[in-house]
Amino acid sequence: MASILGISAFYHDSAACLVVDGEVMAAAQEERFTRIKHDHRFPVNAARYCLKEAGVTIDQLDYVGFYDKPLLKFDRLLETYLDYTPAGFLSFLKAMPLWMKEKLWMPDLIGTEMGKVAGAEDDRSARKRAKQFRWKLLFGDHHESHAASAFYPSPFKEASILTMDGVGEWATSSIGVGRGHEITMLKELRFPDSLGLLYSAFTYYTGFRVNSGEYKVMGLAPYGEPKYVPLIKEKLVEIREDGSLRMNHEYFGYSQGLRMTNGAFNKLFGHPPREPESKITQREMDLARSVQEITEEVVLKMARYARRETGLKKLCLAGGVALNCVANGKLLRDGLFDDIWIQPAAGDAGGAVGIALAIWHRYLGQPRVSPESQGTWRSSRERSNGCLPPYADGMKGSYLGPSNSEAEIEQFLKANNYPYTKYSRQDLPNAVAKLLAAGKVVGLHQGRMEFGPRALGGRSIIGDARSSKMQSVMNLKIKYRESFRPFAPTVLREHVADWFELEADSPYMLLVANVAEKRLRKMSQEEEKLWGIEKLNVVRSEIPAVTHVDYSARIQTVRREVNPLYWDIIEAFRRQTGCPVIVNTSFNVRGEPIVCAPEDSYRCFMRTEMDALALETCLLDKQDQPRLQEQTDWRQEFSLD
Ligand SMILES: [Fe+2]
Repeated sequence: MASILGISAFYHDSAACLVVDGEVMAAAQEERFTRIKHDHRFPVNAARYCLKEAGVTIDQLDYVGFYDKPLLKFDRLLETYLDYTPAGFLSFLKAMPLWMKEKLWMPDLIGTEMGKVAGAEDDRSARKRAKQFRWKLLFGDHHESHAASAFYPSPFKEASILTMDGVGEWATSSIGVGRGHEITMLKELRFPDSLGLLYSAFTYYTGFRVNSGEYKVMGLAPYGEPKYVPLIKEKLVEIREDGSLRMNHEYFGYSQGLRMTNGAFNKLFGHPPREPESKITQREMDLARSVQEITEEVVLKMARYARRETGLKKLCLAGGVALNCVANGKLLRDGLFDDIWIQPAAGDAGGAVGIALAIWHRYLGQPRVSPESQGTWRSSRERSNGCLPPYADGMKGSYLGPSNSEAEIEQFLKANNYPYTKYSRQDLPNAVAKLLAAGKVVGLHQGRMEFGPRALGGRSIIGDARSSKMQSVMNLKIKYRESFRPFAPTVLREHVADWFELEADSPYMLLVANVAEKRLRKMSQEEEKLWGIEKLNVVRSEIPAVTHVDYSARIQTVRREVNPLYWDIIEAFRRQTGCPVIVNTSFNVRGEPIVCAPEDSYRCFMRTEMDALALETCLLDKQDQPRLQEQTDWRQEFSLD
């Protein structure tokens, strides 16, 4: 019996996760509580929430695990700076005070922060409180935390593990094998050679923010041509057969300084980096497509190598690069592995889950029971007699965050005099589906909040996927973001193969596949000639709002047993319209963390042109609401992502 709190912090996307006897009870990112996107501070609020959710007091905790090893990271920084002196000296000086002050004294710092989790209001009383703690503090290796987050919650008895990110301590990618409760790391690629940092360099160069704009580069890629692939391979990176890389660091700035690319890089592509928020041109689209193709090639080669080395036909993925769902979709279609499972919080937030589970299984040697070993799981691609194969994993659909009871919601609405209509659980799906079918955009706040970067029907904005206007309406009037970005569909798992070229579960929206041939409407020759983003306005399928220019879609499948209310809403929509697919985007505006509490949802609903809001079974009509009184322009509140 053990209660373990996993922590990921001080880089980006801080998070906490509570594991009790091997079961993930709760997990959340700090940004959702502080409302600061990618908040990197110690996750005081998230940790407090996790303990409360599981009914564990801080004094009942047995272990606190931190997801990486600060001393090893310090070692890497020091060596890198020395290697590149004097160019690296500037960033050495910039980074040092933080390292000396905070990161090297991690055990003390974690103790103090945990004192704050326990309620202490200042550092002094927090330090005093920390002396009473009886839990043991353990540190994990960054990529081993990713590997643990990929394998332990997966449905598989044994599997190959591939982790890929920017950089941890030294490793930037690693290959391992998971068997039962054991994980063995086999091989790693080391800094400064890194697929994640290569992608981030292009993210920076195309004018997006590193560590958050990578998915925009992926979204931009289908508009471009891979015309820079030969140049990248000739000058920037050598890709070996096993997927390892050798990068030419004459062109990159991240080893020596705080910039990703340098003057030589600019000269190679004939331009300085695009200014953020300036017009996106064909050049950025071609660059995006080129780095995307390089990434897919590397991921496939690494996976092939892992398959050969381990001999295992299942694959688990984690690390920031595993959020590249286009590459994941290719990997699945490649057929190299029978099945793939991807940790939904693949970035560093997921390290909190990884370290907590690693303490339970690796440190404490506790056995692991997987759905596959229990016989409650089969390949997600098998259907027998038309029935779906059973599906389960250890992440509970990623619904690991806070929820609100009906009573709490009604109390909130009544206290603020916000008009609403209360529905029965049975009638709400029909009412919401009716709004969707009439072209309305609905905010949906129900059940537990998602852990990881995707909204999966717990804190989502939803709309009609059949509408040709939905994409631009949602982008411009609701999300206030760049219009090139496609929206993702949620589809009932039962119907996925009828609408997409996919017969598998994709519960975490981490797989891209094409819209099924029979649902497509081919473009005319005239339309084919349209440039980039203009193409997006051409109706190319029965579900244009979620069909990207290359006919692909980033799919979420939903099962009733995992998210009953969400499934019921889409089923009601299907009964009304014949279409089991809706648009699902995260419940936030650009630059804002996904909403967490009812007040966040209400505020976001009122600030945008959303038509209705479902808070559990209370439905709010925008037209009935009092005017939102705000002192400042909320657009200044969030820095653009
Ligand atoms: Fe990482």
